[in-house]
Amino acid sequence: MKLETVVPWGRSFDEYCRMFKLEDEDLQTTILGCADGPASFNAELTARGGQVVSADPIYQFSRKEIEARIAAVYPIVMNELSANQDDFIWDDFIDVESLGLARMRSMQRFLDDYESGIDAGRYLGASLPFLPFEPQQFRLALVSHYLFLYSDKLEETDHIKAVNELCRVAEEVRIYPLVDLQNQSSPHLLPLMSAMSNYGFDCRIEAVDYQFQRNASHMLRIRAR
Ligand SMILES: C[S@@+](CC[C@H](N)C(=O)[O-])C[C@H]1O[C@@H](n2cnc3c(N)ncnc32)[C@H](O)[C@@H]1O
Repeated sequence: MKLETVVPWGRSFDEYCRMFKLEDEDLQTTILGCADGPASFNAELTARGGQVVSADPIYQFSRKEIEARIAAVYPIVMNELSANQDDFIWDDFIDVESLGLARMRSMQRFLDDYESGIDAGRYLGASLPFLPFEPQQFRLALVSHYLFLYSDKLEETDHIKAVNELCRVAEEVRIYPLVDLQNQSSPHLLPLMSAMSNYGFDCRIEAVDYQFQRNASHMLRIRAR
């Protein structure tokens, strides 16, 4: 992966809890955050005593490199958000500026935790569809803003391989959002559910108490039957 191709943009622990309907019981289990990027979920959950490992290809880069990339893309993302405000629901964030501040706070929290997290094995440079974990090493795997969102870049087979790998390493997988970058239901959602169902998994679409991108009001929960 080339860092110049990545647009680092990180969400908070509170947002993860709402996107994935995380209950206290979930937060006390072993969690894999796949494609966590510069989100502060790992830093914040670890500070609360949770057990979480994040896997993302950007963790092959140093703190300095990721920090520089965040600084480079921040104004570009802010301009894009300003130009496309109608694609979002402005309930939790009153305007683009307050959203930008919240994202920067999360990414700073991630950066401050990054080096100690690397030393502790909490941030691992790894890419779907191959994860360096044992079968069922985690109780729960979470994927925020990667699968389905980039449906134009990842094909149906990429989604199926990725989800099979997540189901190999975790008892349960939750994915959010289920829409692509155009706010449309991903064309890969139903084929993926059908394939996973044929492999013996139970797939459920569930409403969540979180929505910023328009139509992004549901997550997918996948468990072995
Ligand atoms: C939009 S960011 C989402 C960050 C975080 N999950 C959040 O919601 O705030 C997408 C992330 O997917 C990661 N990614 C790209 N290719 C990947 C792959 N093959 N396997 C796992 N993660 C990948 C990127 O490095 C990036 O950090």
